[in-house]
Amino acid sequence: MTRCLITGGAGFIGCNFVRHMLKHKPETEIVVLDKLTYAGRLENLEEVMHKITFVKGDICDREVVHKIMPGCETVINFAAESHVDRSITSPEDFVRTDVLGVFTLLEEARRCDVERFLQISTDEVYGSTVSGSFSEASILDPSSPYSASKAGGELLARSYAKTYGLNVTVTRSSNNYGPFQYPEKLIPVLVIKALRNQPLPIYGKGTNVRDWLHVEDNCKAIDLVLSKGKAGDIVNVGSGNEVPNIDVAKLILRHMKKPESLIKFVEDRPGHDFRYSLNWDRIRKMGWKPKVKFEDGLNSTVDWYLANETWWKPIA
Ligand SMILES: NC(=O)c1ccc[n+]([C@@H]2O[C@H](COP(=O)([O-])OP(=O)(O)OC[C@H]3O[C@@H](n4cnc5c(N)ncnc54)[C@H](O)[C@@H]3O)[C@@H](O)[C@H]2O)c1
Repeated sequence: MTRCLITGGAGFIGCNFVRHMLKHKPETEIVVLDKLTYAGRLENLEEVMHKITFVKGDICDREVVHKIMPGCETVINFAAESHVDRSITSPEDFVRTDVLGVFTLLEEARRCDVERFLQISTDEVYGSTVSGSFSEASILDPSSPYSASKAGGELLARSYAKTYGLNVTVTRSSNNYGPFQYPEKLIPVLVIKALRNQPLPIYGKGTNVRDWLHVEDNCKAIDLVLSKGKAGDIVNVGSGNEVPNIDVAKLILRHMKKPESLIKFVEDRPGHDFRYSLNWDRIRKMGWKPKVKFEDGLNSTVDWYLANETWWKPIA
């Protein structure tokens, strides 16, 4: 039996990863540490709560981390402030959790001789590109306080591999979608607005491109990196599903049988990255490729929100 500390496990990707682990690695004992910010919800773990240990706490709180990390062979840090728009209005929260929180976890990880430390980062650390794709060797050029603080956190994490020999690996994935995503992110916002026959807000002209990765594919990638990644490695996790935001909106409307006239262009976000694109040859060579086709994954995600109104109604 090994014990794994999953921070931020009550958020979108974290709760999907907890389910993935319970299904595929049932021998692993799971401890979730989550502050339950607006984005973290116990409802996300409701039906698996009896199979895990849940601790409400802050990754910046040294005392809490000091208490629960001993005995955990593996630490996977999903905990973060994650919404770009919020990082523009309240950057301090992002620097605190995404940099200081990572530091606190790393300090305790080295004290406890943790065997594996996986830092979940993002493709946003590379910034935007009009053409070509970023490899793991590309320079970091983050545009928002969110992506800059994520870059700070992962650089610190990798320095612990070099300086202290901590077994740290970093994944940088593209935009995730799927069930349990907080309804402030693009896909759930569009689904809920369409359901209510309200205008679907699209920044600028809707030409910004994101590479959409189904959360289940990302969970499989993280699991693989956990077993095959080496100390100091960075692993891009992309999907090859580069879609302009306007097309995401149109696909959702088509599936929901709603008119495209609901689309409403709104003033662009400051520093809005035009396009993210990853070269993910490294993880492909490790034996991973995404299984979920974008249209299928998008339709099933829309159906999940339609079937789970009680989940999103209190927070939408
Ligand atoms: N969602 C994406 O498309 C995407 C893409 C690439 C990388 N990522 C990264 O994946 C991770 C998870 O993203 P997500 O979309 O699930 O985010 P989320 O906002 O849905 O969840 C974040 C979770 O972290 C918790 N949290 C926040 N601050 C905390 C703190 N100080 N201490 C303890 N817990 C805290 C929240 O309560 C929440 O449960 C983040 O690190 C994010 O940067 C996300």
